Amino acid sequence: MKIAVLASGSGTNLQALIDQLHHDENSGVEIAVVISDRRKAYALTRAEEVGIPTRVVRVRDFPDRDAFDTGISEILDGYGVELIVLAGFMKLFQPAFVRKYRNRIINIHPSLLPAFQGAHAVPDTLAYGVKVSGVSVFFVDEGMDTGPIIAQASVPVFDDDNEKSLLKRIHIEEHKLYPQVVRWYAEGKIEIVDRKVLVKGS
Ligand code: GRF
Repeated sequence: MKIAVLASGSGTNLQALIDQLHHDENSGVEIAVVISDRRKAYALTRAEEVGIPTRVVRVRDFPDRDAFDTGISEILDGYGVELIVLAGFMKLFQPAFVRKYRNRIINIHPSLLPAFQGAHAVPDTLAYGVKVSGVSVFFVDEGMDTGPIIAQASVPVFDDDNEKSLLKRIHIEEHKLYPQVVRWYAEGKIEIVDRKVLVKGS
């Protein structure tokens, strides 16, 4: 199964997908292209280092957001991508893009959704004072972090945590959970009933 990984930043989740799926011949998963909206995203370097094609698609190079989405869509379709994996991609898609790829776009978020949606999940988690947080992988719908949840993992929040220490614990879970979910998807184990996601055999 050909996937695309979209990333705006460091790409540690991309690295986990490269190590655990792309480099595992038995996974049946190939990262066909890595797309970023930022030229300097370290995720691009990670992809280039292992020979995965990369593309930069910047909002400022298009007249509007629909055109930006179309630019990305053309790349995805050109590479025959079957699953779009968002990994720290800091742009929201317009509804037409979501409709076109319904149930074929997944994202990862550093909280137990629906708690702490949005771009500041980790500081919001600390500010609220919850004792347990975690990671969610979900199908992207028209909202922000609102789509059907595929899998979650919890992490404890300690009294002396700061953003760095909590994020470190969250990343450990992300790097296990995201490759696992992509593997399930490739194996045809994921079924969506209304907004409930069922994973066969789990
Ligand atoms: C992850 O923490 C993920 O939950 C969020 O963005 C971050 C990306 O990190 N959506 P990285 O670029 O994969 O290191």
